[in-house]
Amino acid sequence: VRRLVLLGTGTGVGKTHLGSLLVRAWGERGQAAWGLKPIESGVSERADEVTDAERLWPAAQRPPGWPSHQRALRDPVSPHLAARREGVELSVDATVGWVMEAEAKLVALHDNATQAMSLVETAGGAFTPLSATATCADLARALGPAFVVLVAPDALGVLHDVSATLLALHAVGCSVDAVVLSESRPDDASTGTNSGELEENVFPRLRAAAPSLSRVFRVSRTSPDLNPLLDAWATFP
Ligand SMILES: Nc1ncnc2c1ncn2[C@@H]1O[C@H](COP(=O)(O)OP(=O)(O)OP(=O)(O)O)[C@@H](O)[C@H]1O
Ligand SMILES: [Mg+2]
Repeated sequence: VRRLVLLGTGTGVGKTHLGSLLVRAWGERGQAAWGLKPIESGVSERADEVTDAERLWPAAQRPPGWPSHQRALRDPVSPHLAARREGVELSVDATVGWVMEAEAKLVALHDNATQAMSLVETAGGAFTPLSATATCADLARALGPAFVVLVAPDALGVLHDVSATLLALHAVGCSVDAVVLSESRPDDASTGTNSGELEENVFPRLRAAAPSLSRVFRVSRTSPDLNPLLDAWATFP
């Protein structure tokens, strides 16, 4: 099993959109692939609201009786707060344990799962709190070894947001293997320029924090070519 973890520069940046495309594309290559959203807030009882867990990996494709989440939290606020309101506490160790247990069960269902994609979407942004002591960045680090993808919108402000997030992730010992720009915001004057600016202006300045980053992957609205990203993930040591 090869793990891929999705972090965001914020909430609503396109993590689920990318994750569902990756799970589907890897499956279409004839490989086992699943997408997990262990912790999700804003999960209501309403049948017309589709959860991230469902968008990532539709129930129809999951083994029967499979739990959709480790923790589905009702209120649409930060997981630490939604959990507190329900009188539960989130812990990185428990979530990592749940992911590992899920992977073990899923591997047992497949004949050859050495190249399986186990994708894990975190909640909100990289520094969204999970508890008084942990954020999504801590969860991503604890899920290692994994290919960590930072998702950001191809829009004004992204040069700052990617720089700040990469520096902060480095400070807490979480390394990022790929940056993906999504079209999760309306186009603005910067759209289309940001991948080049990240590659030529931002990454060279962040060599110490993110030595392995050189190129930016893009997932466009019209023709999402996922092959370069899938190849980078599949050949990751
Ligand atoms: N590459 C893209 N092209 C077009 N639309 C996109 C793209 N990525 C995301 N979107 C749209 O942007 C919105 C937010 O995306 P998404 O739900 O994937 O974000 P997220 O990072 O998973 O959010 P959350 O923090 O709630 O988990 C959705 O309506 C989605 O369809
Ligand atoms: Mg999401």
